[in-house]
Amino acid sequence: MRVHHIGYLVKKIDKALPQFEGLGFVSEGEIVYDEIRDIDILFMINGDYRIELVSPKSEKSVTWDLLKKMGASPYHLCYYSSNIEADISKLRESGYIPAGEPLPAPAFNNRRVVFLYSRHAGMIELVEE
Ligand code: NI
Repeated sequence: MRVHHIGYLVKKIDKALPQFEGLGFVSEGEIVYDEIRDIDILFMINGDYRIELVSPKSEKSVTWDLLKKMGASPYHLCYYSSNIEADISKLRESGYIPAGEPLPAPAFNNRRVVFLYSRHAGMIELVEE
């Protein structure tokens, strides 16, 4: 499956931004607030690599505890999916457990995303093409 981005947890996007710019990343669009997940999101590009800076806004966000535990760090890979329901069933068969139903994501013009977890390979995300 083709990789869309690497999700990267940060405490504050405005503080992380210049650091990633210093490493050659360029912002792709503006910071978008995702109400469902209570996070700010900013995509940045460096050659073939895209990172998604994710910053939880409050304790309501599922990434809040993760950030507390891990600090600023990459935490998921996101893959393109041309058929999200079919890919979820296929991944289920290989041991991935979906964190819920696919839901629209503002950072992707409301294309649906879903997170899945494998105890052998960690967390991944699928985004509709
Ligand atoms: Ni992501």
